[in-house]
Amino acid sequence: MIDRFRRSELRRRGMSCGRSRRKHHDSPLLGWMSSSRTVQILAIIAPLVAIAILVLSAPGQPEALGSPRWKTLVAVAILGVSAVIHLYVNHPRTCTHNGRTALMFGLVLAQVTVTYTVIGAVESNGWPPGYRFLLAPYAIAPMALAVLMGRNHGIFAAVYASLWSSLMFEPEKSLSFLIHSLVVGLIGVYLTDQVSRRSRLLRAGLFVGLAAAAMALLLGEIELSAAISGQSKPWEPINQALIALSIGLLAAMVLSGSLPLLESASGITTDISWLEMADLNHPLMRRLSLEAPGTFHHSLVVASLSEAAAKSIGANAAMCRVCAYFHDVGKLAKPSYYTENQRGGQNPHDELTPTMSALVILSHVKDGVDMAIKHKLDDRIIDVIEQHHGTSLVYYFYRLALSQAEEAKHGSSPEMQPSEIAEDRFRYPGPKPQFPESAIISLADSVESASRSMEKPTPAKLEQLVVEIIRARIQDGQLDECELTLRELNLVQHSLVASLQNMNHERVPYNLAEQKETSQGGDSAARAKTGRPRDSSATARMN
Ligand SMILES: [Fe+2]
Ligand SMILES: [Fe+2]
Repeated sequence: MIDRFRRSELRRRGMSCGRSRRKHHDSPLLGWMSSSRTVQILAIIAPLVAIAILVLSAPGQPEALGSPRWKTLVAVAILGVSAVIHLYVNHPRTCTHNGRTALMFGLVLAQVTVTYTVIGAVESNGWPPGYRFLLAPYAIAPMALAVLMGRNHGIFAAVYASLWSSLMFEPEKSLSFLIHSLVVGLIGVYLTDQVSRRSRLLRAGLFVGLAAAAMALLLGEIELSAAISGQSKPWEPINQALIALSIGLLAAMVLSGSLPLLESASGITTDISWLEMADLNHPLMRRLSLEAPGTFHHSLVVASLSEAAAKSIGANAAMCRVCAYFHDVGKLAKPSYYTENQRGGQNPHDELTPTMSALVILSHVKDGVDMAIKHKLDDRIIDVIEQHHGTSLVYYFYRLALSQAEEAKHGSSPEMQPSEIAEDRFRYPGPKPQFPESAIISLADSVESASRSMEKPTPAKLEQLVVEIIRARIQDGQLDECELTLRELNLVQHSLVASLQNMNHERVPYNLAEQKETSQGGDSAARAKTGRPRDSSATARMN
C-alpha cells in the first residue's frame, strides 16, 4: 500500500512511469511447491504407488505362476524404502528441491512403464520371449539423470529401475534381466556423464545399443546357436542385434528431444544447453559488440578467466562462460558512462554529481536484470547479473562525495556535511554471490578490470593484484554466502593468476596503491588520483 502511494506520488511529480520493475523470482505458489514437505512426500509416494501397480499387474509377475501377490508387494515396498533412504543419505541437496525429487522418481517410473509396455506387447503379439530383453529401454532413465543431475543420480536410476523392472519377469528370467539392465544402464551413465553436445548423446546411444546387443548375446537372448544349427533363419540373430542397437539409439534421440522439457520442469540447465547458449550471435551480445565494444571485450576475457577457474575446482565451467558473457549487459542502457567504452572521449560523469554518477553506475545491475528477463535468459544468468558486484561499494564516487562535502564544510556553503553522505547509497543492492560460479565470475570481473589498467604488468605484480583483490573481498564479507571453501578459493586464485599471466593484452596505466579500492568496487579499475574521473583509466572502476 505504502509502495503504491509512493509510486503514485512519484508519477504525479513526473518522476516515474508508474510501472513496477519486473523480477525473475518464482511466484509464492511455485516457491511453496518447490519446498513444501507435503509436495515432496507426494513426489515420492505417487511414483512408488504407480510402480507397485505396474509390477503387480505385469504378465510375468509371480501370481501368474502361482506365488502369492503380497510377496511381490513387499519386495516393491522394501525397494521403495531403500530408494528413499538412498536419496536422503546420498543426495540431501536434491531432497530440498521437490522438482528434482519428482524428476528422479518420475524418470524411474517412466522406464518401468516402458518395460511393462514392452512385456505386454511381446506377450500379446506372440513374439519370442527374448524380445522382452531386446526391446526394453535399459538406459533411458540413467542417461537422462546423468545428463541432468550427474553420475550419482544416473546410478540411482540404473539400480532402482533395474530392480523394479526385474520384478515384472518370471523368477527364472528375473536375474538375467537385472544383470542385463544394470550393466547397460551403468554403461549409459558412464557414456553420458558430462556430455556437452547432442551429437555425443547420440553416440552414447549407439554404444548403449551395442552394449545391449552384446549382453543379449552373452545371456543367450539372441539365438545364435539356433541360427548356426539351422533351427532358425540365419539372419535372425542379426535382426535381433539390430533391434537392440536401434532401441539404444532411439532412447538417446528421445532423450535429446525431451531435454528442454525436462530442464524447464526441473529448473536444471545441462551442459548441452549451456553450450548452445554460448552463442555470441544472441541479440544482446550482438548489441554489446556494436554499442559497447569495450564491455564486450571485457565480458569475453572474464568468460575465459572464470571458465578456467571453474574447471580448477570442478565447478560448472560452461555455466561460468555463458553467465560471464551476459554479466554486464545492463551497460547497454548507458554504454558511454563506462570507461572501457569511452576511448578517450568526453567523460559524461563530468556533468554529474558523485551521487548521480553512482546511481548511473549502480543501475547497470538492474538494467541488466530487466534485459535478461525481457530476452528470457536462463535464471542462473539473471542471478549472476544481480550478484556479480555483491553489496560492494562504488568507492571512487563515495570518496569523491566525501571530499566534496568536506570542501563544502570548510568553504562558503556549509550545507552538506560529510556525515550526511550515506554509504548505503553508494553500495550495490546485492545480493552477494550465492553459488560458486557466481563468486568466480565476480572475482574474475574484478581482477580483469584491475589488470587491464596495470602499467607494465609483471607476473609478480599480477599475482599481488589477485591476492589483494581476493583478500579484500573476503574482508568485505562478499564471499560469505557462496559456499566456496578456502581451499577452492586458493585454487581459483592460482587459476586467475595463471590465466592473467598468460594473457598479453594491452593495458592502460594503473595505480597499484589503489588496488584495495578497486577490489571493493567490482569490475572496476584505476582512476585518477585526484578530482573527477577524466579519462579511460579514471572511470574504469565505475562499472
Ligand atoms: Fe558489472
Ligand atoms: Fe564486468
